Amino acid sequence: MSTESGTESLTSAVLESFAETPNQRLKEILGSLTKHLHAFIAEVEPSIEEWEAGIDFLTATGQKCDSVRQEFILLSDVLGVSMLVETINDAETPDATDSTVLGPFHMVESPKRGLGENISPESEGDICVVRGRILSVTGQPIPRASIDVWQANMEGFYDVQQPGIQSIGNGRGLFTADDNGEFYFRSVVPSYYPIPTDGPVGDLLAATNRHPNRPAHIHFIVAAPGYKELTTHIFVGGSEYIESDAVFAVKESLIKPFTTNTDPDAAAAFGVNSPFVEGLIDIVLHPEIHAHTPTHETTKEIVR
Ligand SMILES: [Fe+2]
Repeated sequence: MSTESGTESLTSAVLESFAETPNQRLKEILGSLTKHLHAFIAEVEPSIEEWEAGIDFLTATGQKCDSVRQEFILLSDVLGVSMLVETINDAETPDATDSTVLGPFHMVESPKRGLGENISPESEGDICVVRGRILSVTGQPIPRASIDVWQANMEGFYDVQQPGIQSIGNGRGLFTADDNGEFYFRSVVPSYYPIPTDGPVGDLLAATNRHPNRPAHIHFIVAAPGYKELTTHIFVGGSEYIESDAVFAVKESLIKPFTTNTDPDAAAAFGVNSPFVEGLIDIVLHPEIHAHTPTHETTKEIVR
């Protein structure tokens, strides 16, 4: 038996082992995984030591995870997988605001805050006001949408990365848009930051001469009944690394200028000193999509 026919029959045997899988979507996913994984191994022809190094890397990635650290999302991010999944799902809703990656720092609940509240009360830096409207694809305001935001401080750290320095909830806020779909909150202008490099993903970046930095941004998850939930960022225009995000998440449409507003009346209205920095983003949601959701949900239950 030649090596080639041996590997092919092995692949067939594994595929056959999944033949009785009742959930067809799970069967499809496992079949594709088997075919691509076997093709990858056949192409690379790893030594036993290399295979063990791969197992050790994935083991270390899992062991680095805890309640506030998600090394597997980070790995998915730096390999471009998160962005690929986002892009595939985003294609269903071309008229909505572009989505981008969730990232690894949505690990704690954001504190509920009232419109206009400061999400970064413990952070120093340039005060900014972020504001906009939540709209449907027809341009109608969506009243009372929920807006979950989180960001790093001026030093480039999220609350969960600095226990004892930042309280959990600093840099985060859960808002409800008003009856006109409008929202605004105060914060500090975020900084670009390096993703955590003290784990296996950092080792991977170092071994491949890749920098770990992400351009300055604020994360959003926007949800409203009857609409598809949107996970996205607003990127600070002109930020360092805007052209070379370590997780490939920048979309041109999400880059917004953070400009200086010198109008003292506006400053008074937002409760900040004049002048202040202002970031504007209108977020467009697409009506909920029901097609194929049940199958995906079932798969999620099984794989979980
Ligand atoms: Fe982030």
